[in-house]
Amino acid sequence: MTRTLLVTGGAGFIGSNFIHMIVEDRPDWKVVNFDALTYAGNLENLASLESNPNVTFVQGDCAEPDDVQRGFDACGDGPVSVIHFAAESHVDRSILGGLPFVRANVLGTQVMLDAARARKTERFVHVSTDEVYGSLGATGFFTEETDLDPSSPYSASKAGSDMLVQAAHRTHGFETLTTRCSNNYGPYQFPEKLIPLIIANAREDKPLPVYGDGMQIRDWLYVRDHCEAILTVLEKGTSGEVYNIGGHNEYPNIDIVKAILSALDKPESLITYVKDRPGHDRRYAIDASKIERELGWKPRWTFEQALPATIEWYLANDEWSQGVRSGAYRDYLKTQYGS
Ligand code: NAD
Ligand code: DAU
Repeated sequence: MTRTLLVTGGAGFIGSNFIHMIVEDRPDWKVVNFDALTYAGNLENLASLESNPNVTFVQGDCAEPDDVQRGFDACGDGPVSVIHFAAESHVDRSILGGLPFVRANVLGTQVMLDAARARKTERFVHVSTDEVYGSLGATGFFTEETDLDPSSPYSASKAGSDMLVQAAHRTHGFETLTTRCSNNYGPYQFPEKLIPLIIANAREDKPLPVYGDGMQIRDWLYVRDHCEAILTVLEKGTSGEVYNIGGHNEYPNIDIVKAILSALDKPESLITYVKDRPGHDRRYAIDASKIERELGWKPRWTFEQALPATIEWYLANDEWSQGVRSGAYRDYLKTQYGS
């Protein structure tokens, strides 16, 4: 069936990977990419699709009803579903200032929900995060029943947006689906996040900032697997449900840093332990058995395949990396890490 998707945040890391996947796997679908182009939005991520008539771009802010209306107008009159990626996404930035996170993630989600209901959209997929569950001890996993217990302004704002999505479903019977995924890695990730930051700094023989003791654990999933899971939820998910997404791929941060150094043949002396992130969650680990059991999704990529492929991608796309590492990004780096 031909569909039109309004994809918010489609110029960011996961959103742009998602649009590339839709063009490959559902070539007759139409995509309207609605994005404010904040520091994290980069249309170069979609440069190869510029002449594709099925993909259009509307610049706008999810928190501005008039902008959102323009986004829906660009979808035409037929059936539309929304994939809501747009968010302020970086924990460290939220520690420096929470307000942009509340505006984009909480207000932005409510404006999207109101406009989507008024437009009578078919389905609204809200892309959330495992960080809403807070931190785990040494054992156990997050399930969809785990209480929300966020630690940072970022994760608190995402938890707030999840509750608004739940309310739209319970109060208005709106067709919503919420996904909560673990840490992603892959092409087009802004190099403020651990893996692309470490690749970029290691290549330039710069210090590699490791927070605290480097023993915090994240559950890493290749971005393509996350995108396939979101498409599965759109097509097969049950309205009103939450689906955890992850790949049982837990590693302490220091192991990730050492694996990248080894792949690039760089010395471990570049590792620099720095002050810990305030409120740093110690461990994330996802139980994704619900989406596997009910919708038949499973990750296709192993870490052993996808980490080298990701490093290769950053090496082959040096121009992209240099572009995003200039300007505003450097100002932010100074604020975050000092000189
Ligand atoms: P990103 O920061 O790379 O991209 C965010 C995109 O949203 C950018 O293109 C930005 O311009 C746009 N945007 C921000 N505020 C906006 C607004 N008010 N209106 C319109 N557009 C706006 O983020 P990402 O890593 O691609 O994450 C996408 C989504 O997935 C987020 O909702 C995030 O919470 C969630 N998520 C991310 C991860 C991860 O590991 N990166 C894991 C799980 C869930
Ligand atoms: O779990 C999903 C979340 O994963 C998403 O919701 C967020 O949008 C995404 O940014 C990511 O959050 P994290 O805080 O886990 O990702 P980040 O890449 O910032 O950090 C990963 C781990 O590495 C974390 O324990 C902090 C640590 N770290 C990070 C940076 C940037 C360092 O030790 N040094 C660094 O310089």
